[in-house]
Order: sequence, then C-alpha cells, then structure tokens
Amino acid sequence: MNGERYAQITGWGMAVPERVLTNADLTKVVDTTDEWIVSRTGIQQRHVVASEKESTMTLATRAARRALRVADLAPIQLGLVIVATATPEYSFPSTASLVQDALGATNAGAFDLSAGCSGFIYALSVASDIIRSGDAEHVLVIGAETLTRITDWTDRNTCVLFGDGAGAVVVSAWDERCGVQASVLGSDGSGGDVLILPAGGSHAPTSHETVSSGGHFIKMNGREVFRFATTIIPKATEAVVEKAGWQLADLALVIPHQANIRIIESTAKRLRLPLDKFFVNLERYGNTSSASIPIALCEVIDGGRVKAGDKLVLVGFGAGLTWAAAAIEWGVPTPVKPQPWPRRWLASLRFALATIRSTVRRAERRVYNWAMGPVGKEDWRGRLRQRVDRWRGRGYT
Ligand code: UT7
Repeated sequence: MNGERYAQITGWGMAVPERVLTNADLTKVVDTTDEWIVSRTGIQQRHVVASEKESTMTLATRAARRALRVADLAPIQLGLVIVATATPEYSFPSTASLVQDALGATNAGAFDLSAGCSGFIYALSVASDIIRSGDAEHVLVIGAETLTRITDWTDRNTCVLFGDGAGAVVVSAWDERCGVQASVLGSDGSGGDVLILPAGGSHAPTSHETVSSGGHFIKMNGREVFRFATTIIPKATEAVVEKAGWQLADLALVIPHQANIRIIESTAKRLRLPLDKFFVNLERYGNTSSASIPIALCEVIDGGRVKAGDKLVLVGFGAGLTWAAAAIEWGVPTPVKPQPWPRRWLASLRFALATIRSTVRRAERRVYNWAMGPVGKEDWRGRLRQRVDRWRGRGYT
C-alpha cells in the first residue's frame, strides 16, 4: 500500500441471446458459404436477439446483474453506470439510465458512451479515472449491442460478421497497485464514413426516403476498416504497454476486439508475439462491437486463463474511426469462490425489489398526472396539484 487509489475490476458478467445463427443458416439468406466466412473471418456462428423482449438494455441488465453478484456488491453502492453501445435502446433516454433503474442503482449517475467497437475500453478508462480521482467508489461499465437490429440481411459484406451480446465489469477503488494501469484512446474522424449508420441522426432524420434507401442499416467499407485495424491495433498495444512501463514480453494475454481472426493474426505477427497470447472467441460470437472485449474478458477469467499478477492488454478499434487500449494488472484471485446461498438469495431479492420499485414509480407518476390534472390549470385540481407539489418539493409551478 502506498496511499494511492487504484481502479480494480472486482466483478464481471456476460449475457448473449439464446438463439444461435450458424454460417449454414446464413447461406439460406444470402449468397455466401461457410468456407468463405470461416476462411475470411474465422466466424462460425453468432448469437442473435430473437424476440422484442430482447434488446440492448435487457442484455446489458443481465450482464450487469452477474457482474454485481461476482463483486458481491449492492446496486445502491454504485456511483456511476456507463453503457458503451452503438445500438442504444433509444436515442434518448440513455440505455445506461434504463439499466440503472432496472438494477435499482439509485445512487448512480448514468450515461451512454458512443465510440464504436472501442467503446468498452473508452468507458473503462473513464471509470478508472473517476475512481482514481475519488469521485466514485464503484462504477459499472457495460458494453452491450444488438447489432443484428441494424443489419441488412441482404448485404453479404456485413451480415455475416455481426452478433449480439453484452459484457459488464464492476470497477472498484483499491488500495494495492493493480487494476487499470494505463489507457490509450484515439480517434480519426476523417474515416467516419468508412463504418457508418447513415440515417436516423440530425444529418439524415428518419423519413420514407431514408427507410427505403436502407439508410438505417450498417454501411461498411470492409477493406478500409481491415487496413486501419491491422495498422492501429499493434500501435495501440505498443503505446499502452509503454505507458504502463511494461515490455511486450511481460504480457500474459492480449484480449483484442473480436472482429476477424486475420486481423488478430496480423497483429501477433507485427508485435512478434505468439498467437496463443491472443484470446480468440469470435468463432462463437462473431463481432459484437463494444460487447466483444468484455465478453472475451469474462471467458478469460471464468476459463482460468488469468491469475493474480498477470499483465493483460485490452485493445480495440471501430467506427469513428476510433481505437483504444488498456493495460490491466490482474488483482483478484481466480477462480472466484461461489457465494453461499444466503448472499445469492439476497442479491436475487434486491433485483426483484428493484423491478417492483421501478414499476411502482412509473405507476405513481401516471396516477399523479391523471389525478392532479394538467400543470397550471387554476381549477380545484390545479390548486391541489400545487399543494401536493409544494409538499413533495417538486415545484413544477
Ligand atoms: O468492428 C469493426 C467492424 N468491421 C471490421 O472489423 C471489418 C474489417 N474487415 C474485414 O473483416 C474484411 O475486410 C471482411 C471480412 C469484411 C471482408 O474480407 P475481405 O477479404 O476484405 O474481402 P473483400 O471485401 O475484399 O471481398 C472479396 C470478395 C469480393 O468479391 P469480388 O469483388 O472479389 O468478386 C466480395 O464480393 O469476397 C466477396 N464477398 C463474399 N463472398 C462470399 C464479400 N462478402 C462475402 C460473403 N460471402 N459473405
């Protein structure tokens, strides 16, 4: 201990939809083959949302609940919830606010972060700085996506690549030197059009025209992104290793964004590191954008691939164009012992109570607005509303 504060990952969890879409399934939809997809990307299958009940928020909430259980943390202890996503539940409110409500994290601020597939590392970096500055004790960082909701299933250049899922980590204040040691964030907006969702924003608001021209689907120049990725991933890895004061040879594992096995192979070659130092699970999930690194991190930890003292690099690239890397010294002993049943039960009870609380608050708002009449109306209901507002400290008037 040296009196400094560090930001340590103390909980982790992931969630993917149950439905699996294999390459063979895709051959029935577009002009492609299993051989092409496997040889050009390494992807064999992906998980996809199957019903309206599944969304970015529901996946994020499932992953977050698991992370909180591992951290053995009550949601009210969270100071902030950040959701990195390119496929938010809505433009607004933020997905993070919806997750905060679903968890019952009533003391937490919440915001979404948009940095393409690099989003999770951006969010981790922000969380780490907030914790180290002393502004929060625990921050929930989530990467969550439902990319298949913005996928053009007639475009073979993109539809074979993406999948859905979420990964979450709890980042907590720690007094021993471990956790996030350095991060590197970068952006080159001149490449914005290389990977873009063209419509639905202020530049091209939703219209018949944007819908009929397919403006609400992912558009990508795959070769350009590939070229960018194979250059920036080795550079970002080297930069973060240097910033942490480490050598490449110190690394126990690199967890890269899971987009294409050829990008990972090229990175290994450029860095002169053996391929088995790179964790790969893209064959099972495809590219889940900002969820890919936290999902991979969960599998690394739960699969026993990391132990206390190991040095890890997380590194990603994506729309923006953006890139990001984080150097992490693992500090939590693994595997984590399963919690005794009373603690598991308590966690389930907290989540059930959060659902009830959220439902009651929504209902209370509706009843209040119905019973008290419109704001500013000077009849008896208006006067009653003013009294109740004053009593509740709402003060709309
Ligand atoms: O998270 C960031 C998101 N994006 C990425 O990471 C993408 C990075 N880029 C890539 O991974 C690769 O560029 C792709 C996998 C997207 C494409 O691989 P490629 O080796 O760069 O292929 P290409 O785009 O150069 O296309 C080669 C050929 C083309 O045919 P022609 O023009 O040579 O006759 C494509 O039309 O492969 C064709 N092709 C396909 N064929 C069968 C493209 N997609 C498919 C497909 N099945 N699904």
